[in-house]
Amino acid sequence: MITDPSRSTLLITGGAGFVGSSLALRWKARHPKSEVIAFDNLKRRGSELNLGRLKDAGIRFVHGDVRSAEDLLGLPRIDAMIECSAEPSVMAGYGAGARYVVDTNLLGTANCLELVARDKADLVFLSTSRVYPIAALNNAMSVRDGRFEVQQPMTGLTASGLSEDFPLTGVRSLYGATKLASELLIAEYAQMHGVRTVIDRCGVIAGPWQMGKTDQGFVLLWLARHHWNLPLSYTGFGGVGAQVRDVLHVADLCDLVTLQLENMEAQNGASYNAGGGVNNSAAMHEFTGISQRITGKKIEVGSDREDRPGDIKWYVTDNSRITAATGWAPTRDLDAVFGDSYTWLKQHDAQLRVIMA
Ligand SMILES: NC(=O)c1ccc[n+]([C@@H]2O[C@H](COP(=O)([O-])OP(=O)(O)OC[C@H]3O[C@@H](n4cnc5c(N)ncnc54)[C@H](O)[C@@H]3O)[C@@H](O)[C@H]2O)c1
Repeated sequence: MITDPSRSTLLITGGAGFVGSSLALRWKARHPKSEVIAFDNLKRRGSELNLGRLKDAGIRFVHGDVRSAEDLLGLPRIDAMIECSAEPSVMAGYGAGARYVVDTNLLGTANCLELVARDKADLVFLSTSRVYPIAALNNAMSVRDGRFEVQQPMTGLTASGLSEDFPLTGVRSLYGATKLASELLIAEYAQMHGVRTVIDRCGVIAGPWQMGKTDQGFVLLWLARHHWNLPLSYTGFGGVGAQVRDVLHVADLCDLVTLQLENMEAQNGASYNAGGGVNNSAAMHEFTGISQRITGKKIEVGSDREDRPGDIKWYVTDNSRITAATGWAPTRDLDAVFGDSYTWLKQHDAQLRVIMA
């Protein structure tokens, strides 16, 4: 349990990943005397690029795997954990690879919870908007002016976003299911062991150090394809880029998680939606316009009409609950997300070309 943030020991699983490394660096910068451990199996291509900057900041890296209870329980005593390890792609596990998703995203959480219970540590869990079922969401949408919009508002769903009240019945992808099942385990461990927990169900997060690829991290994928003049397509739902997403700048997420870890007593037991919100939302073809403007480059965007498994027509976060409870709301707009990401991409052109091109 964190009693003094400035002297805390914080473990970040998935700590070499995009979100995990950003959080590790933020916490260490804010609390230089704290000990921060970044734990990662380096499964994600590009995570290895973070090791240098973690080391330079005085963050200890542990090469380990959340699928191994021994790897986690071999760690020294911790005050808090941020669980950021995952196979984070919604498309993962369709066809093949299901076991990696289940073993990392669900059994990995169970192993993390054993460590949390051992040390009576605080836990912030990075969950996902994908816990909400696909069909119920898609059935409420229709296209107007080239973008999906809410045609049938329902419980927890209005044009300004999806809230925690949206019903959970239905299929949600293996990714979403393993995250939701993890949330259930967290509630049980919290009660059994009296540990403090908070869950953030995040929509799309983006920003510098995201290793965008075709199945995850679309903002960086879009920018990279423009920057290096590589092929890009709109996929599914007619292949015209009508899908709508909101985007949260990773720095806004760092603001939130820092605030939560520093106020765990008030946050304890909460589960929130957290995302860019309606002001940071756009259709995929509009993201192309932003990418053109930010990069100054134009590419032909193709069309693949075949729907992707697990794809949703629209997701916009309703941040009402989290804003009311914490005062937090995103402060960086889409231009900041795309602009900051592109600056980083250009700065590391040669290194990133090997990974993202
Ligand atoms: N990026 C987003 O848009 C987004 C949105 C919602 C939720 N999330 C959640 O946020 C968290 C962080 O995502 P991210 O975007 O940083 O992804 P990421 O892929 O960049 O980071 C995940 C890290 O976990 C590591 N990892 C994978 N399997 C592991 C294992 N078995 N043991 C130890 N480490 C392992 C990877 O090597 C990687 O460094 C995840 O839980 C993800 O589900 C992300």
